[in-house]
Amino acid sequence: MIIGILNRKGGVGKTSLSTNLASALCLSGSRILLVDADPQESALDWQASREGETLFPVVGMAKPTLHKDIPDLARNYDHILIDGPPGINDVTRSAMMACNLVVIPVQPSPYDVWAADETVKLFTEVTIYNDSLKGLFVINRKIKNTALGRDVASALGDYPLTVAQTAITQRVVFAESAASGLSVLELAPQGPASHELNALVAEILSLQ
Ligand SMILES: Nc1ncnc2c1ncn2[C@@H]1O[C@H](COP(=O)(O)OP(=O)(O)OP(=O)(O)O)[C@@H](O)[C@H]1O
Ligand SMILES: [Mg+2]
Repeated sequence: MIIGILNRKGGVGKTSLSTNLASALCLSGSRILLVDADPQESALDWQASREGETLFPVVGMAKPTLHKDIPDLARNYDHILIDGPPGINDVTRSAMMACNLVVIPVQPSPYDVWAADETVKLFTEVTIYNDSLKGLFVINRKIKNTALGRDVASALGDYPLTVAQTAITQRVVFAESAASGLSVLELAPQGPASHELNALVAEILSLQ
């Protein structure tokens, strides 16, 4: 499966979800490649801050030719994840064209729902060429014990994409993961964040 984690809005959790979903899939036995399509190279920085062996390769490819380059790479992996840049540009478009599934992280705020508009427009445009392309909103940084996530999920329901049943809660372990180059699943394998990530992976795999 080729999974792009894309959203025009910055700071919504594209890199956090890319690195951690890639890790969850890898730890469950799949051959994984993470493509860093963001010129900020955050996924590459994450990998570089890790001590010891890496779980899977991360390659920097912030190029508008991803849709042509990725099919060749895909032969050697079970899943390729693409960590997208913020903004909508040729690289985002090319990344989306390369995908079977687009995961759009959205924070539980109305601003994020409104900002999803442009990303959804691009999704709709790309489905004209690739009608099997699937799209999944994932609520990220859900605040525990609030109904905000639920309100946002219902607002997102107006878009022609599915909202994942699993939301990812705001937790400090994500900052620890970013700083250490380790995944949440390695830092706290039995913790609630790992539980949510594994549930999201199961949901994603069921879309294949
Ligand atoms: N579920 C979460 N819980 C707590 N912190 C989170 C969570 N998800 C992301 N963060 C934090 O939010 C910040 C932004 O996340 P991240 O870098 O993954 O977003 P991004 O969409 O990749 O940003 P950019 O658009 O700049 O590439 C980081 O500091 C990250 O640690
Ligand atoms: Mg990022």
